[in-house]
Amino acid sequence: MILPVVNQAKNTLMAEAIRDLDPESMVRSPGLTYQQLLDQDTRPVPDVLRLQSPKDLGNADISIERYISKDWHDQEVERLWKRVWQFACREEDIPEPGDHYRYDIAGMSFLVVRTENGDIKAYPNACLHRGRMLKEFDGHASELRCPFHGFAWTLDGCLKDIPARWDFPHVDDDQFALPELPTATWAGFVFINPDQNCAPFDDFIKDLADQFQRWDLGKLYKQAHVARIMPANWKIAQEAFCEAYHVNGTHPQIMKSLGDVNSQVDVWDNCARVITPSLTPSPLLGDDLSDEDIVRAMLDIPEGDPVPELPEGMSPRAWSAAMSREGLRPDAGDLVDEYCDAELVDNLDYTLFPNFHPWGAFNRIVYRFRPNGNDHRSSIMEAIMLAPFQGERPPAAKVQWLKDDQPWSTALGFLGKVFDQDVFNMPKVQMGLESTYKPGVTLANYQESKVRWLHHKLTEWVEEGK
Ligand SMILES: [Fe+2]
Repeated sequence: MILPVVNQAKNTLMAEAIRDLDPESMVRSPGLTYQQLLDQDTRPVPDVLRLQSPKDLGNADISIERYISKDWHDQEVERLWKRVWQFACREEDIPEPGDHYRYDIAGMSFLVVRTENGDIKAYPNACLHRGRMLKEFDGHASELRCPFHGFAWTLDGCLKDIPARWDFPHVDDDQFALPELPTATWAGFVFINPDQNCAPFDDFIKDLADQFQRWDLGKLYKQAHVARIMPANWKIAQEAFCEAYHVNGTHPQIMKSLGDVNSQVDVWDNCARVITPSLTPSPLLGDDLSDEDIVRAMLDIPEGDPVPELPEGMSPRAWSAAMSREGLRPDAGDLVDEYCDAELVDNLDYTLFPNFHPWGAFNRIVYRFRPNGNDHRSSIMEAIMLAPFQGERPPAAKVQWLKDDQPWSTALGFLGKVFDQDVFNMPKVQMGLESTYKPGVTLANYQESKVRWLHHKLTEWVEEGK
């Protein structure tokens, strides 16, 4: 018997194969483009939403090794996680001198600390005596004292105390400061880099920072922070949130009010985005839906129950944006009047390589996905919700860890229900990739180009050793 041969990768995934494309030349879904939807906005649309940056990223399959191989994970740790700038915590997580936050990545632990003079420093979370972790928990301390034998450092990393100092004549105080990691902040987020000789942060953040000039996430506060261990490689978890093509299969209940395949995908060097319009029906449904159908779907109103009536001539998008403006006004103030409808209703999902996903405008979501220790078949998924506030900054929410089988809806309501549909797929994708005879996954050219971009970047870092 001859077994069928499955598709082999058609060409390699090389970073230099990326080409700019003319937006008009991309094959797109039938129906309105995102730019045509913006033409209907009731307010001036900002330039950032008018940008289009499609790329030709080739059509190579993505090797399944990236998801199922421990060797690939080990390479990823050495060449990516130990060298890349990564989001560790919010500045508001450590507002006062002595506040510290534990950030772990791929089996390593780091401490991010607010020092006496208000600076932020990061150290390997390890005592220089026998190596014990200095802090297991986030918290507040006047010094960094190891619980094992009592070696202590000041908040800015200088050696402070060695019990029975006479027994360590060979320790030179100046040589016994805690090693420092490079740190940087952007929009209230603290980034660290485990590589003390890393490339400058400004170059790393530039593409994303250019996009967010209008949307200052630093003015928002952390209202919620939810985390859960997922039984799948971190890239499987992350990629479930990098395209809207899965909506028809995974979230069919929102198709009447979501232009899933109308999404616009833009790729720059170190960041990419998927903009998915709300309150416009999926072209995959194929029929003309009434405004009432769209609003009913958006508000999740059962058939037969009354739907709010839209003012004469007002589209569901404009109506929903107007409602959002008034809902946000008490906390966001008059800023809501500067935002166009699209900024209030659409899903502006950005990704900064490798794993940081802030949403733009009044979207409140930030995702992060990372390996769970060195188990390449599990990951940590986090959702952070940011919110505007008036007056004094409310305290930042602490991380709420869900149990392994606890639904996201128990912490995040309606949004959590949608997450639960996404995460239901994840272990099944892992198992399928462990079982398949096909050496690679095949991606859509346009709609999944953010996923392909991530893999080009991974090629650059992990395989080409950037
Ligand atoms: Fe989803």
